Amino acid sequence: MGGMETVLSVEHLMISFSQYERGWRKIQLPVIRDLSINVKGHEIVAVVGSSGSGKSLLAHAVMGLLPANASWKGRITFKGEELTGKRVKELRGRQMVLVPQSVSYLDPLMKVGDQVRNGHKDGKSRTRSREVLSRYGLGEDTEGLYPFQLSGGMTRRVLISTAVMEKPELVIADEPTPGLHISAAKRVLSHFREIADEGAGVLLITHDLELALKVADRIVVFYAGTNVEEAAVSDFQREVSLRHPYTRALYRAMPSHGFEVQPGAQPYVKDLPRGCPYGPRCPMADQGCLEEIEYRAYKGGMVKCRKAGI
Ligand SMILES: Nc1ncnc2c1ncn2[C@@H]1O[C@H](COP(=O)(O)OP(=O)(O)OP(=O)(O)O)[C@@H](O)[C@H]1O
Ligand code: SF4
Ligand SMILES: [Mg+2]
Repeated sequence: MGGMETVLSVEHLMISFSQYERGWRKIQLPVIRDLSINVKGHEIVAVVGSSGSGKSLLAHAVMGLLPANASWKGRITFKGEELTGKRVKELRGRQMVLVPQSVSYLDPLMKVGDQVRNGHKDGKSRTRSREVLSRYGLGEDTEGLYPFQLSGGMTRRVLISTAVMEKPELVIADEPTPGLHISAAKRVLSHFREIADEGAGVLLITHDLELALKVADRIVVFYAGTNVEEAAVSDFQREVSLRHPYTRALYRAMPSHGFEVQPGAQPYVKDLPRGCPYGPRCPMADQGCLEEIEYRAYKGGMVKCRKAGI
């Protein structure tokens, strides 16, 4: 993927929530710590990680959609330009779009056609919406339907149609295939592949590593609010090519590799161990893992494990 322009770059992102503990003491919950990721045009970068690892928060931070009690630090750029609050509002919904995790983003009382056109009624918008919907296998009659009349797969394709109306350069898809039958899920993902092939950068958020490997170019693995590995899809052909013990455990948990269950669970922010967040589950952990671990380049990818390569 060399030579492509970086559309999104996130460096050392931290997100914390202020919360009241036992009703009166205000505490800061650092739910994302030191997260870095970049996406280039023409590629799909898949972010995989279990529930609560911080995937949606990353998407919301980039899109300027964090809730009011959240604060963030770090640097986020779109095509090299810093994303300030003002700039993100100008770009959102046009050059950069979010295909949301929840279908509740669709207005239940508005017909599909009007939603896809975002309220625009001019001829040009009508032509474009027809073009986009048909591209995703949705006929003209779909425009007159309400969201409750759509199947799960159709709903997902309507959400994609809405997102690509303005030909975005960055598409963030947050868990775009929940509850879909495997063939419908593959079809939805193939649409993201087309979007990337036409030049946009796609950040695909999913907990389904197996599906991600079918469409993505690179995989970034999240664990407890930080990234632990970045690998090319081809690195997943063999367990030994992977850099982090958590990624290797994910590999062994894939149905095609024997479904091996990983003991333990990802820690919640309030119970984070000192040093490496994977320490309590890691078969290789020792005293040195109680220090802060650096995210470093290794074998053409990235890893946050002090033992990789040693
Ligand atoms: N508004 C909030 N206030 C406090 N904590 C929050 C808030 N939103 C999210 N979190 C916490 O931040 C962490 C990351 O949440 P996030 O929604 O990004 O997870 P996720 O990886 O998208 O999970 P899922 O796969 O279930 O969608 C979780 O521990 C969650 O409890
Ligand atoms: S830093 Fe230590 S605990 Fe963390 S993954 Fe590597 S070996 Fe395991
Ligand atoms: Mg999520």
